[in-house]
Amino acid sequence: MTSAPVYDIVEIGDPRLRETAKPVDLTRLDAILPIAQAMKEWMDKRGGVGIAAPQIGVGLQMMIVASRPNPRYPDAPLMQPLLLLNPLPLRYSDTTVEEWEGCLSVPGLRGKVWRPDAVDIEYFDAAGRGHQLALCGFPARIFQHEYDHLIGMTFVDRVATPLDLVSEKVFLEQILPARLAAK
Ligand code: NI
Repeated sequence: MTSAPVYDIVEIGDPRLRETAKPVDLTRLDAILPIAQAMKEWMDKRGGVGIAAPQIGVGLQMMIVASRPNPRYPDAPLMQPLLLLNPLPLRYSDTTVEEWEGCLSVPGLRGKVWRPDAVDIEYFDAAGRGHQLALCGFPARIFQHEYDHLIGMTFVDRVATPLDLVSEKVFLEQILPARLAAK
């Protein structure tokens, strides 16, 4: 008798977050549906705006980008959640922007990271169809953050200095209110 795999959130320090994810077999798409479902459930449960398969211990090139306002990201723009298989960045903008990031695999911490503010990507959907998409602003940032998970990186690797790391508590109580007031 076989039982369904149990997925749990993988946290920083676990070697699985350092591995390079393998491409999804697009001829066996039925196999990825339970994984995508588990990713979405964890993302929703933890107030994430995106998640990558390695974060639930699955070394496949899968991510969800789902910008929406919630208590952890109150000023995030709303978009339809997007499941991306075998995603690839094609071109980055020259303009870079600095923004705070958090991660379900790095609980309790936020980091300030410079990234290009736009990226053109290609990916396959759950039906195996190929797409190209131009992302900008916060969704472009989420994509780049999740793509890092597919190449064994987290936002902690991207901060310019450890001074750009703060606790989630300090972020929510001090930095975020000041940011929202300035908007
Ligand atoms: Ni993350």
